[in-house]
Amino acid sequence: MSNKAFYLTTPIYYVNDAPHIGHAYTTVAGDVLTRWHRQKGEQVWFLTGTDEHGQKVMRTAEANGSDPQSWADRLVKSAWIPTWGKLNIANDDFIRTTEDRHMDRVQHFLQGLKDSGHIYEGKYEGPYCVGCEEFKLAGDLLDGATPDEKLCPTHSKPVELLSETNWFFKLSAFAQPLIEHYKANPSACEPASARNEVLSFLEGGVSDLSISRSSFDWGIPVPWDTKQVVYVWFDALLNYATAVGIGDDPNSEGGKKFAQTWPADVHLVGKDILRFHAVIWPAMLMAAGIPVPKKVFAHGWLLVGGEKMSKSKLTGIAPSDITDFFGVDAFRYYFLRSIPFGTDGSFSWEDMVARYTSELANDFGNLASRSIAMIEKYCDGKVPQPAAEPKVAEAAQKAGEISDERICALDFQGGILAILDFCKVVNGYVTEQAPWVLAKDPANKAELEKVLYTTVESLRILAVLFYPVMPETCEKLWEALGAKILGPIGDQKISEVAAWGQLPAGVQVSRGDVLFPRLPEPENA
Ligand code: MSP
Repeated sequence: MSNKAFYLTTPIYYVNDAPHIGHAYTTVAGDVLTRWHRQKGEQVWFLTGTDEHGQKVMRTAEANGSDPQSWADRLVKSAWIPTWGKLNIANDDFIRTTEDRHMDRVQHFLQGLKDSGHIYEGKYEGPYCVGCEEFKLAGDLLDGATPDEKLCPTHSKPVELLSETNWFFKLSAFAQPLIEHYKANPSACEPASARNEVLSFLEGGVSDLSISRSSFDWGIPVPWDTKQVVYVWFDALLNYATAVGIGDDPNSEGGKKFAQTWPADVHLVGKDILRFHAVIWPAMLMAAGIPVPKKVFAHGWLLVGGEKMSKSKLTGIAPSDITDFFGVDAFRYYFLRSIPFGTDGSFSWEDMVARYTSELANDFGNLASRSIAMIEKYCDGKVPQPAAEPKVAEAAQKAGEISDERICALDFQGGILAILDFCKVVNGYVTEQAPWVLAKDPANKAELEKVLYTTVESLRILAVLFYPVMPETCEKLWEALGAKILGPIGDQKISEVAAWGQLPAGVQVSRGDVLFPRLPEPENA
């Protein structure tokens, strides 16, 4: 369809606790990518939300003396939505799995699978990890303290042994179609390491999946057997489609939304939940005769002390611990800049201080404040006549092209580096031209104005390219450059950003706040 939107999702997060920087990492990546696509002039739909059913949430609520619904309501309102607001996440929708719009469509979808013969009754006997909400294979587990105890390798906690009569989905029937799908469409699962993992898992043989639970009731009732609730992952994965109207009449609002968004372009997930997304989810869709997502991208973990950072291991860091010190935009920048998307990376306070200071405050922030100050001093604060400096204009062109290509390939680090490289070219140019020396002799006026035009025009380009990563800072810079005359920064197109000479002569610049203030001394932080 010509008006197909670029549709991106994050995982929906469990509401057993408040967000930590691991959750924020995924959500910020999604926000940067969708903002980038918006600046390419595309229609975009960006979904995030919360996963509220299942034993994990139910037990946390109980342990806190609450019922699960009130617990989820409280956490969503007091923690999840405010955190995304604070981090400037521009999601178009926020789905909660306890909403009727989700639960009704899940039941409808499930009934469809039952009616078409993809579901049967059986007995599940085996280990289950409530932390992962996952039926485990014996071979996946670690030995515990006693001969009978087995531990989940992700949570280092004992698994529970289940023995229940449940409803099963014929997942095994889709192993071969999925193998063929990933071989024919390598971009459907990235990076390559993730695809290989999924392929070898599928080639090892896949069992049918229990998709209901009977021993507790915090979930969506199975429509034809209301004593059972839908398995939380089966419920949760469907959020990507229920939020955009799966199963609705094609002429209804939901049906039109579905036609406009489906199939999803990118499901961003952490590598821990890859199999759910690259095996179970597309199999569910195949069974229902619905197109599978175009891409599942598995990123790595943020590590603390060499292990996946997590609240359950008491290594969770709240985003505010970092944003209170470095600011929101430096937070958005840092993780995407320093960790190749798709591999694990350690968070280090020292590394963040070093990058903040050298890349953001010095290379980018100082370039802006020095350039604007010189225009105030030497040109009465007015942008000089546009002039061309081919070396810099070519570097801008290259930065625009490479960053676009890299970011669309989800190589955030490569994209950001291309923009930073341009920043370095401009800094080198200013140092080389030394406008403060040119200013000493009125005979150099034309040369001086050319140099200063080149620097502010370059800053216009930097503001647009960095805007998806650091919206608040770039908005400030846009204002300081007087670039509002060109329209809102969010309307500037990536494809046109490097066309030289857009900032018109005579526009008034203004020295606003410092873009990246000096960091407080750590002992005062
Ligand atoms: N509710 C499920 C997802 C259902 S999606 C249909 C879930 N939720 S979760 O709250 O545990 O968070 C999942 C996601 O948070 C991970 O896949 C990953 O995207 C992110 N991260 C959680 N800890 C992380 C790190 N330490 N590092 C990076 N990302 C991490 O699983």
